[in-house]
Amino acid sequence: MFLRNCWYVAGWLEDVASDAVVARTIIGDNIVLYRKSDGALVALQDRCCHRHAPLSLGRREGNDLRCMYHGLKFNPSGQCIEVPGQDRIPPKACVRSYPVAQAGAWIWVWMGDPARASEDLIPRGLVGPGQADWIYGQDAMAYEAFYELINDNLLDLSHLSYVHEKTLGRQSLQWGETRPAVTPIERGLRVERWLVDDRPPRHIGAPDDARFDRWTAYDYLAPGVFLLTSEYHSLGTAKASGMAKPSARPRHVNMTQQAVVPVTARRSIYYFTAGHRAEDTYDGRVPMQVAAVVNAFHEDRTMIEAQQRAIDASMPSPMVLTSADAAVSRFRRIMQALIEEEARAA
Ligand code: FES
Ligand SMILES: [Fe+2]
Repeated sequence: MFLRNCWYVAGWLEDVASDAVVARTIIGDNIVLYRKSDGALVALQDRCCHRHAPLSLGRREGNDLRCMYHGLKFNPSGQCIEVPGQDRIPPKACVRSYPVAQAGAWIWVWMGDPARASEDLIPRGLVGPGQADWIYGQDAMAYEAFYELINDNLLDLSHLSYVHEKTLGRQSLQWGETRPAVTPIERGLRVERWLVDDRPPRHIGAPDDARFDRWTAYDYLAPGVFLLTSEYHSLGTAKASGMAKPSARPRHVNMTQQAVVPVTARRSIYYFTAGHRAEDTYDGRVPMQVAAVVNAFHEDRTMIEAQQRAIDASMPSPMVLTSADAAVSRFRRIMQALIEEEARAA
């Protein structure tokens, strides 16, 4: 059901402080995260091999983690290195370890075959701490829904005209009535479109009656990573650009980067940043932008959780697709192909 051979976001960099021991569930696997003395992250199966207590109730000791039920100690590769009261370490005394990395604002864990883990498969262009180009805020939201429904939502932004009619959509029907260009890229899709002579969301800080030609482009990458920038250009830019990617310098640029992470088959977590180009800054814009997207993302969650309940309440039946579903269907096929390829290789 889930793709294993890929990197999943396990939280924000600061979620695992130097002495913290943190539990996470990703694609149904319980894992525990902590940092070694030098700050390097460790991800282990969150179940002691002795009597199956969670290691996330354990204690970090230097580079190692001690189970605080009966005291077995594990090193960062998951090998038991101490059994209180006996010299012999049983040969099977170990827990699974997972490759773990830091990139952008996030911690990433590879849930599949460690031999296939390559940091080259972590998306490029991530915004994170210490980057001078962007100013952003961040938040996360838990969902009672299968992650695929959240991917579908982000791959079809026609819903901005309806779900977000009074918030992000600002009562414009352009999201619903125009179609983006969808192009395949490595392990994902690029989705690009113009909104012509449209009202920007309030959080960009433009006057209330301002209108722009808006170029919105995002990459959507397996298993559910959404990297979007929106450029606000003067009216006429879309036409002057031949309705293609503009070369003109935008008046404002904002961005959001998001990760949809399956916890179980009916629970997900949604991490998101929202911000703007540093040169566009003025006091208070980022809190306003994060608050605006949180407000809008509650609208998504209300709809998607209700959609999940409606799906679960009835016998499976085919969905009737429209042209707005092009990216949704193509991304589902990309994920299916990756899952099938993984099954064949296993
Ligand atoms: S359950 Fe971990 S030491 Fe006993
Ligand atoms: Fe939405």
